[in-house]
Amino acid sequence: MTALTDTYTLANGNRIHKIGFGTWQIPDGEPAYDSVAAALAAGYRHIDTARSYRNEPSVARAIRDSGIPREEIFLTTKLQAEAKSYESAHENFGTSMRALAEGGIDYVDLYLMHAPWPWGERGADYSAGVAEAWRAMEEILADGRARAIGVSNFSVSDLEKLAATAKEAPQANQIRWFVGNTQDDVVAYGREHGILTEAYSPLATGALLDDPQLKDMAVRYGKTVAQVCIRYALQHDTLPLPKTTNPARIVENADVDFVISDNDMAYLDGLEGLAD
Ligand code: A2P
Repeated sequence: MTALTDTYTLANGNRIHKIGFGTWQIPDGEPAYDSVAAALAAGYRHIDTARSYRNEPSVARAIRDSGIPREEIFLTTKLQAEAKSYESAHENFGTSMRALAEGGIDYVDLYLMHAPWPWGERGADYSAGVAEAWRAMEEILADGRARAIGVSNFSVSDLEKLAATAKEAPQANQIRWFVGNTQDDVVAYGREHGILTEAYSPLATGALLDDPQLKDMAVRYGKTVAQVCIRYALQHDTLPLPKTTNPARIVENADVDFVISDNDMAYLDGLEGLAD
């Protein structure tokens, strides 16, 4: 399954596998350990976690126990959205690294600021705090504990504000992205500025799976709706991060070596509001 081994190249030259295994909402302990172990066994080499998912220790242990050399795996974690100062960002990263050290991990491939605002204040202007936290992330990048830094849930305006103070540009922006919710302005800004768009919830956390239009298309391709949604993300040059704890679905979600025709891509582009 080439989708698991194909890579995008970040603006800094680092390679990142085109499909990542998302771990949002997978509890720490057995569920996170087992699903990451299953993903690695199925050939995934890109794992996406976050401080706020609280599953970094199990993710790290599963990576260690897989026996796969660390350098063959691309690991992302995220600075908590609430950490909006220089000190708290350093502190928060330290907490992540201690959690990851439980599996012998001593650097991350990508470190993302989880959001431009604390979750409880969605939309508020925290640009001064973002700039401060970003300065800490630039230091973490400089000392090699993160090989790349980026952001998540940033709008065009958030990216522009960050660009006004940042010494290092973000390498990636991880956003909620799926058929009918493609945030075209953010993706276009990313393309123009060398920022890879990563697509979290590419199945709209499951809400797309019963859509009749997507089902019809999936049948025509002899694929599942999940596979159509993941393939759609890839054909838009975004990086899908499907999440499942089910081993058969882990395999299914990476079996996407087919091509959606231009006509069908245009049809999917025209669909709106399939999920909230
Ligand atoms: P489960 O973990 O029980 O498999 P998203 O990636 O957009 O966040 O979507 C995740 C949701 O979609 C989860 O509820 C997951 O459930 C479900 N899911 C993931 N992959 C598949 C699949 N191939 N078929 C059906 N449901 C899936």
